[in-house]
Amino acid sequence: MKISIPKNFILGAASSAWQTEGWKGKKETQDSYLDSWYKNEQFVWHNGYGPAVATNFMEQYQDDIDLMQQIHLTHYRTSINWSRFFLDYEQMIVDEDYAQHIDDVIDSLIAADVEPMLCLEHYELPQYLSEKYDGWSSRKVVDLYAEYARIAFERYGDRVKQWFTFNEPIVPQTRIYLDAVRWPHEQNTKKWMLWNYHKVLASAKAVEIYHSLNLDGRIGCVLNPEMVYARSSSDADQKAAAMYDLFYNRVFFDPMLKGAYPKELTALCQKYDVYFDPSEEDLTTIKENTLDFLGVNQYYPKRVRAPRYEWNKNTPFHPEIFFESFDLPGKQMNNSRGWEIYPKVMYDMAMYLKNNYGDIHWLITENGMGRENEEQFMDENGIVNDTYRIDFIGQHLRWLLKAVEQGAPCEGYMLWAFTDCVSPMNAFKNRYGLVRIELDEERTRSLKKSAHWYQSLIDDRVLTI
Ligand code: BG6
Repeated sequence: MKISIPKNFILGAASSAWQTEGWKGKKETQDSYLDSWYKNEQFVWHNGYGPAVATNFMEQYQDDIDLMQQIHLTHYRTSINWSRFFLDYEQMIVDEDYAQHIDDVIDSLIAADVEPMLCLEHYELPQYLSEKYDGWSSRKVVDLYAEYARIAFERYGDRVKQWFTFNEPIVPQTRIYLDAVRWPHEQNTKKWMLWNYHKVLASAKAVEIYHSLNLDGRIGCVLNPEMVYARSSSDADQKAAAMYDLFYNRVFFDPMLKGAYPKELTALCQKYDVYFDPSEEDLTTIKENTLDFLGVNQYYPKRVRAPRYEWNKNTPFHPEIFFESFDLPGKQMNNSRGWEIYPKVMYDMAMYLKNNYGDIHWLITENGMGRENEEQFMDENGIVNDTYRIDFIGQHLRWLLKAVEQGAPCEGYMLWAFTDCVSPMNAFKNRYGLVRIELDEERTRSLKKSAHWYQSLIDDRVLTI
C-alpha cells in the first residue's frame, strides 16, 4: 500500500538536553533533580553509562546536525536545560557559557535548514529548587520558572518560532509521589496534585509572557495523554476508563486548552482531601492563557477495567482506587520496554482530541521504539538493520495519516529520538535513535537503516507499507 504524505506535514525528530548533553562544563551547583537521582541511586546507570557523558552533545552537537542535514530532516525538538542555564536560580544570573551553547545549537540548526523547536523543561528542574523549595510544591518556583521563560524568549525568540513550556509535565511527580520510585519514596497524592497544578499555572504564565513579547511564533506544551481503552462496554469498565482519563489526561488538557479544570476533578480532589486551593487570580491567569498549539507524545495504549478490590482506607488516596490496569490477551509487545504496540492509538488519539478539544492544532512530538541489544542487528558494514523500527514508525504513521485525511488538525510527526540517548529510566539500555551512538570515547555516530528510510519518506513523501 502506498500512502501519500501531505507536502507540509512535518517529519522531524526529537531529543532533550539532559538526555544528550553530558556534564562537560557543568558546575556541581547546576545539578538537575535527575542528576541528583542518578548520583544517589546508581541502579539506573546502564553498565556504568549514564548522563555523565550521555551522547556528549555539548561537544558534538555539530556532528548530529551534520547528520540531520544529511538525511534532510527539517525539524528538531530539544530543550534548554534549566538547571544549567543559571549560576544563581533566584538572582537569575545566567551561565553565559551555557547560554552561548544554546545560541550555537540554534544557529547551527538554522544554517543546516533544520527548524529548532525548544522546550523550557524536559525533566530538568534544578536540584537547588528541589531542595530549597521542595520543587513544585512551592508557588515561588512558579514565579522563578516564569522569569526563566522570559529570559529564554528574549534571548532566543528571534530565531526559535515554536516553543513548548514543558515536556510531559505529569511524569516527574507521578514517579515521585504516586509510584514513589524516586526520592523521598513516599506516596503523597496531595503533593502530586499540587505539582500538577503549579505546572499548569507556570505554563500559563509562560504563555502570557510569550504573547506579551509579541514575538513571531507560537507556544504550546508537550503532553503525554494516554489513550484509554476500557476492557468492555460495561458501565463499571467505562467508568474506570473515564476516571483514568480525568486524573491523568484531563488534569492537564482541560486547564491548558479550555482554561479551566473539570468540575468533577476538583470535586473529587476536595472529597479526598488532595485539593490544591488555587487563588482566584491564578485561576484567571490559567483561564486567559491557553496554549496556541499542542505537542503529543504517544507510545502505547492504556487499558483499564473496573477495580476488583475495595480501597483500603488506611492507605493514602490514590487515583487507582477508581481503576485497575488490564492486560489485553495476545497483545503485541515491545518487550525491551514492556510497552504494548498498538498503532491505531494514533488514530484514536486524533479523534479524541477532535471530539474533546476541537480545532486545536497539534503534532506528534514523540513516538518511537526503544530496543535493547541492537548491536545484534548490525550488518557486516556496521549498520544497524532496524527493520522493526521502520515497521513501527510505518504502522503508526499509517494511522496518523488516516486521521489527517479525515480532517484531524495534526501538523506532523516527530520521532523519538534523533540519536540514541540516555533514558531517565534505564540509561542506554534501550536504543531509540535513527542514529546509533557507540559508547566509546568518541561517542561515534552512525546512521541506522531507519535513518535512510526516514530520509526517503522526507524526500518522496510516500509511505509504502
Ligand atoms: C518520553 C520522554 O516519555 O519517553 C522521553 O519524553 C523518554 O524523555 C521517552 O526518553 C522514552 O521513554 P524511556 O523511559 O524508555 O526513555
